[in-house]
Amino acid sequence: MFLVTGATGGLGRRIVRQLREQEQPVRAFVRLMSDYAELENRGAELFIGNLSRDRDIQKAMQNVQFVISAHGGESEPISYRANLELIDRALEANVQHFVFISVLGVDRGYDDAPAFKAKREVEKYLQASGLSYTILRPAGFSSNLLPLAEQFRRTGIYWLIGDPESRTSIVSTDDLARIAIAAVSTEGAKNQILSVGGPEILQRQEIPQILRRIFDREPILLNPPLLAFDGLRNLVGVLNPKVRESLGTLRALLANEFFCTPAEVERIESLFHLKLETLESFLRRSISN
Ligand SMILES: NC(=O)c1ccc[n+]([C@@H]2O[C@H](COP(=O)([O-])OP(=O)(O)OC[C@H]3O[C@@H](n4cnc5c(N)ncnc54)[C@H](OP(=O)(O)O)[C@@H]3O)[C@@H](O)[C@H]2O)c1
Repeated sequence: MFLVTGATGGLGRRIVRQLREQEQPVRAFVRLMSDYAELENRGAELFIGNLSRDRDIQKAMQNVQFVISAHGGESEPISYRANLELIDRALEANVQHFVFISVLGVDRGYDDAPAFKAKREVEKYLQASGLSYTILRPAGFSSNLLPLAEQFRRTGIYWLIGDPESRTSIVSTDDLARIAIAAVSTEGAKNQILSVGGPEILQRQEIPQILRRIFDREPILLNPPLLAFDGLRNLVGVLNPKVRESLGTLRALLANEFFCTPAEVERIESLFHLKLETLESFLRRSISN
């Protein structure tokens, strides 16, 4: 039995889908008010709970062999404490393998980005736990771009905050789901930290050009500088310092480059016997579905 947290999220939903396609038993950890009908229809067992409650995590862990922690959230109880609890309970339940979805650049010391800090601490805790583990450090997910592609299709507008030349290697969320599942049974992925990006390094300004090709429409690029984001963030911070703090993660994402080297791409492809999908291929496939 797999336990998947964040099962209604962009990545978690795909992990559950693929597990069910393989007819694997999976328990999807979901919140009561979330949209989990699809997971249920696919034959996943639902565990309705909240990751902020230790008791729920303990109950969800019964008869589980593999855990994939794929939930997101900026708050400390979810990004940090819930993962520690998952690890402790997994140890208690003799779980065979634990996959943690971290983030590329987590080790660069972005002090202003709470989610990065939490993930690095969870990584260390998992490494020291004695559990068999795989830590995946993905670049940005291709599925994040689907709402932007939809907006582009309707209006031609593409928002790009910050440096248009900064580089990224966006990973197909479907590939990442496949890798997270395969990690539990891939000997070479055992007790490893793996960076996972798409097969090409793109400048962010190339993304609207991909959309232009897909939709046959000239992009209207709206490109406010990072300074505008900072100004807005500071303004929000006067009213709500907590929101300002949580925007630190977004700022780190906007202000820095996140891409994998060709050697890292090759490592993933040979370890998991797959060919990583380009962003254009993912978008064309997802949009036509
Ligand atoms: N998106 C990216 O580009 C990116 C890049 C690198 C790494 N990552 C990491 O990859 C993971 C998955 O990201 P994602 O974009 O797929 O996430 P997402 O779409 O934002 O989904 C977050 C998931 O976490 C669940 N969740 C949040 N708080 C919860 C709580 N208190 N109890 C139970 N479930 C809770 C949400 O449930 P609800 O449906 O109830 O809200 C949702 O299923 C995250 O750890 C993220 O940090 C993401």
